[in-house]
Amino acid sequence: MVVKEIEKGLTFDDVLLVPQKFSLHSRKEVSTETFFTKKIRLNIPIVSSAMDTVTESEMAITMARHGGIGVIHRFMSIERQVQEVQRVKRAENIIIEKPYVLPLKSTVGKAKELMENYGVGGLLVVDEEGKLKGLVTKRDILFEEDYEKPITEVMTPKERLVVSTRKITLEEAKEIFKKYKVEKLPLVDEEDKVVGLVTAKDIMIKSMYPNAARDQKGRLLVAAAIGIKEGYLDRAKALLDAGADALVIDVAHGHTDEVIRAVRKLKETFGDIQLVAGNVATPDGFEDLASAGADAVKVGIGPGAVCTTRIVTGVGVPQLTAILNCAEKSIEMDVPMIADGGIRNSGDLVKAIAAGASTVMIGSLLAGTDESPGATISRGGRKYKVYRGMASFYAMLARDLKEGKQIDFDLDAIVDYAYTSEGVEAYVPYRGSASELLRQLVSALRAGMSYCGARNIRELWSNAKFISLSEAGIKESYPHDVEVIE
Ligand code: XMP
Repeated sequence: MVVKEIEKGLTFDDVLLVPQKFSLHSRKEVSTETFFTKKIRLNIPIVSSAMDTVTESEMAITMARHGGIGVIHRFMSIERQVQEVQRVKRAENIIIEKPYVLPLKSTVGKAKELMENYGVGGLLVVDEEGKLKGLVTKRDILFEEDYEKPITEVMTPKERLVVSTRKITLEEAKEIFKKYKVEKLPLVDEEDKVVGLVTAKDIMIKSMYPNAARDQKGRLLVAAAIGIKEGYLDRAKALLDAGADALVIDVAHGHTDEVIRAVRKLKETFGDIQLVAGNVATPDGFEDLASAGADAVKVGIGPGAVCTTRIVTGVGVPQLTAILNCAEKSIEMDVPMIADGGIRNSGDLVKAIAAGASTVMIGSLLAGTDESPGATISRGGRKYKVYRGMASFYAMLARDLKEGKQIDFDLDAIVDYAYTSEGVEAYVPYRGSASELLRQLVSALRAGMSYCGARNIRELWSNAKFISLSEAGIKESYPHDVEVIE
């Protein structure tokens, strides 16, 4: 006898949460604070997926500004991934400690190139000794067509800049910006060497996002994905040096000796880092990764919108059951669970958290927003963005080509990709800004928590009562017997 008992697996649509008494005045008093890893606290339980159509710096900045965190995907060179992490860490600093600089002998062309590469609107111009000589901003070179022109001819020279010779507070910086009507304040030491930069834009943005998830220096939080194949330690080191707050081992089947070894190795090599590992879908998988040293474990095999793992391999666990089954381990071992994939609406988010997840990881919903990589396209009068599984045909082909693998584009090679793919390429409806989407999701989460009588996520875990639904019950949950106006 091979098969003994068959457990029934449930997913989000199979259940509802039963309403319970709520004893606060308003939903606004509900706290959505949670932990991404053992040591990283977030203000909202939402994480963006490490996928090339979801999270690069722009998405990660928006996620952190709203109190969540983004995981920069790993399907790029180490140098580029480092740059993406740095962009987030520099996005809004009171003091940028190592501002980007431009050598005094540079040209307008070089300034344009660097501003574009770094995604900044200004560069401090310095001599060979690092002494401040001037400032060049986008406005100075906007209509400049002579790319060979020396930067000294277009920059604002040091003599005309407002400069501070000591580290200043937020309030002092605001005063200076108000008084001198400038937007950038370089900081120099006694020898005129650049030691920092304060920008008016950073200060303005900072006050717009009081709920942002920040590190101890006030910089936005960001995580970065790594693999476990050759060179992963080099990537990990570069990302940590760049300021990544957490590393995420991003592997489809995380319950393997190889991943367990990688978790141990990373912890041994880098000491006190915050490390996420996954993906698993069973309590044993959760326990093995957490025991090896993972500071959070990602749960989800095949629930994602563009995943075909379950169809191709016949393997997976319906996501709600996977979360419920791992919840006890997560609480017992005090290792947060990240529920990864399958979130289609705010109701799924509430159910995932109520089932025991500390955060959810979202791909498809965020892929349709302005902040995800890639352009918006029009089809049949509607707007879409492209979203693809990282194990999809083209994503795998692109990765191998980027890594310099020789591919003969003959039928055998193509069939190989087709056979091994576990994801699809797709269009997702364009959804406007991720900021707006996050606000909607969090507002619905608060409402859901209040329906469950929970003032915070821990209370939601202990209060949650699920009820399973029949086919008729599922139908009743959606608008019915009406023609919905789109
Ligand atoms: P959603 O449902 O939010 O899920 O789009 C996002 C998650 O899907 C996973 N992912 C994949 N799973 N094949 C898979 O089986 C793939 O090609 C693939 N690409 C991404 C990933 O965990 C992500 O966070």
